[in-house]
Amino acid sequence: MVSNQSQWNSVYNRDKKVWGDNPSQLAVVAYNYLRESQAFRNRKDIFILDLGCGYGRNAIFLAQNLPCHILGLDNSQPAIDMAMQSLKGSLAKKIEFLCYDFTNVSDKYDVIFVSNLYQVLKPQERTQLRETIKRCLKPDGILFLSTFSVRDPEHYGKGTPVDGEPNSFFDIRYMHLCTRQELEQDFDFLTINALYEHIFHDLRPNHDHDHISWILMGHLK
Ligand SMILES: C[S@@+](CC[C@H](N)C(=O)[O-])C[C@H]1O[C@@H](n2cnc3c(N)ncnc32)[C@H](O)[C@@H]1O
Repeated sequence: MVSNQSQWNSVYNRDKKVWGDNPSQLAVVAYNYLRESQAFRNRKDIFILDLGCGYGRNAIFLAQNLPCHILGLDNSQPAIDMAMQSLKGSLAKKIEFLCYDFTNVSDKYDVIFVSNLYQVLKPQERTQLRETIKRCLKPDGILFLSTFSVRDPEHYGKGTPVDGEPNSFFDIRYMHLCTRQELEQDFDFLTINALYEHIFHDLRPNHDHDHISWILMGHLK
């Protein structure tokens, strides 16, 4: 079977900036929260870790709008190459993009940002992502995570169900859709500040479609 990583390399080599240049809804939520929250609004520098950052659309938006330093990690080299090409002027001082697997991170961050990575990870990788979050989130830090819901009309029930794994399907690639209860259990090491679904429109050439995704915000217990 083709690895997850080489599949993402093919996606980025073929489609380049697949989701356009606009930030995801999660980045807008994170920006609004960090700009207004008592804990962060007067900070001169917020250290943000963007896991599975793709070509950097969210890190770039956050760096353009917040006093922060961002480390964006993705294990797809074509994605990181595109991300690095966007680093001009002051952005280059605020963001570092690295081709790196998230399991190897060890430093601690004020904010961990994970946009639409969880849904593409297999069970053991999802466990590793949660371990990375536990290890790398500062005690007073905050997690922002988005992941597709079981109510996602584009992916739920599409392709072949994965044996022994509820709500996982193999279509063009592996996809796991989450219930609220599953996220509450998976992230029971966090106090969850917000967990809600939102609908977004994915504007693609020849294939416009809607998604339903969870947005989760939480801090360590
Ligand atoms: C659906 S894309 C989301 C990209 C980006 N977060 C965004 O919202 O634009 C998922 C990304 O996770 C990356 N990824 C998958 N497994 C990874 C791993 N183990 N370490 C780092 N990145 C990974 C893929 O290469 C891909 O770029």
